[in-house]
Amino acid sequence: MRLSTILTTLTAVLFTPSALPHPTSSSLSTALQNASNTTIGPENGHLVIVGGNLQNPLIYQKIITLAGGPNASIIVIPTAGGDPTYDQSFPAAATLRSLGATNVTVLHTYDPSVADTDEFVAPLLSASGIFFGGGRQWRLVDAYAGTKAEAAFQSVLDRGGVLSGSSAGASIMGSFLARGDTANNQIMVGDHTVGFGYLKNAAIDQHVLVRNRHFDLFDILKVEPGLLGIGIDEDTALVVAGNDAEVIGSTYALFYDGGFWSREELSELKNLPPPEARFYFLKAGDRYDLGQRKVVVSATLSGGGDEF
Ligand SMILES: *[C@@H]1O[C@H](CO)[C@@H](O)[C@H](O)[C@H]1NC(C)=O
Ligand SMILES: *[C@@H]1O[C@H](CO)[C@@H](O)[C@H](O)[C@H]1NC(C)=O
Ligand SMILES: *[C@@H]1O[C@H](CO)[C@@H](O)[C@H](O)[C@H]1NC(C)=O
Ligand SMILES: *[C@@H]1O[C@H](CO)[C@@H](O)[C@H](O)[C@H]1NC(C)=O
Repeated sequence: MRLSTILTTLTAVLFTPSALPHPTSSSLSTALQNASNTTIGPENGHLVIVGGNLQNPLIYQKIITLAGGPNASIIVIPTAGGDPTYDQSFPAAATLRSLGATNVTVLHTYDPSVADTDEFVAPLLSASGIFFGGGRQWRLVDAYAGTKAEAAFQSVLDRGGVLSGSSAGASIMGSFLARGDTANNQIMVGDHTVGFGYLKNAAIDQHVLVRNRHFDLFDILKVEPGLLGIGIDEDTALVVAGNDAEVIGSTYALFYDGGFWSREELSELKNLPPPEARFYFLKAGDRYDLGQRKVVVSATLSGGGDEF
């Protein structure tokens, strides 16, 4: 159940005096607990969600490792890119090979009737890793949504494999498809709004700092306030297992959860904007609980040292 639905239901229950049977206090508290810790990450397997311009070999290595090592079968899907044709030399595939992956296959079609055939899906059935390249995220939807290929992507995750992607390949992982408009890449709530949903109740934006996109997710959160907004900068990734997300790579991931966190002491003295206008940054090594929508604070998070 979506958070907004739960809250609407709760509001209706709390403020409708006698028409409805009174909920027991335990069912109310369960709903409240559900609302605050709904699982939104995958039950099995991992996601590596990269904010575009992937260069850092450590992120590629992470994908290879989570797929099961150099001999794992990794499928690269270049379809978001929009080129007329693709061959096995697609750059992300070449980079994975140069970093030791021995069995990398580029798989592509724009035609959903092809994506729905057993022949097309066959290589996915023995794969333990997928990498979705960049471009326009709606092309992935038009080619694969509702097909056997989409089901096979999910099955890689269900078997404990890794689904990864950069730029468009990051946004496609959200249940809400950010920047999904076919006209241009600036419309946040476009003519395609449903992603593959490996992260539920979430919208994922990319290239966020390099392109000064940090206010853009509010276009989505204004119309879908129950969503968790996640913005990822270039060459930076979120590695997700269950509800645990860890930042790796060069810069920052931004979280739009209505809250605020700082590694700085006395940050309660800050004059923040209202909750619906807030975001904050996490860096490599920082961890976030996607269910609780909170930073996982550990000893290594505190800091600033003696620099003021
Ligand atoms: C809470 O979530 C559980 C598991 O998804 C579901 O079975 C239950 O009905 C939910 N309870 C309420 C009160 O929403
Ligand atoms: C939510 O968290 C509470 C407290 O940590 C826990 O008791 C409850 O089982 C959790 N609910 C779900 C649906 O995970
Ligand atoms: C990968 O496969 C090759 C050839 O079959 C084999 O020699 C090698 O030991 C394998 N590497 C790993 C890490 O399993
Ligand atoms: C390489 O991956 C393909 C596609 O998943 C698979 O069919 C094939 O068996 C794999 N080859 C090896 C040597 O593991």
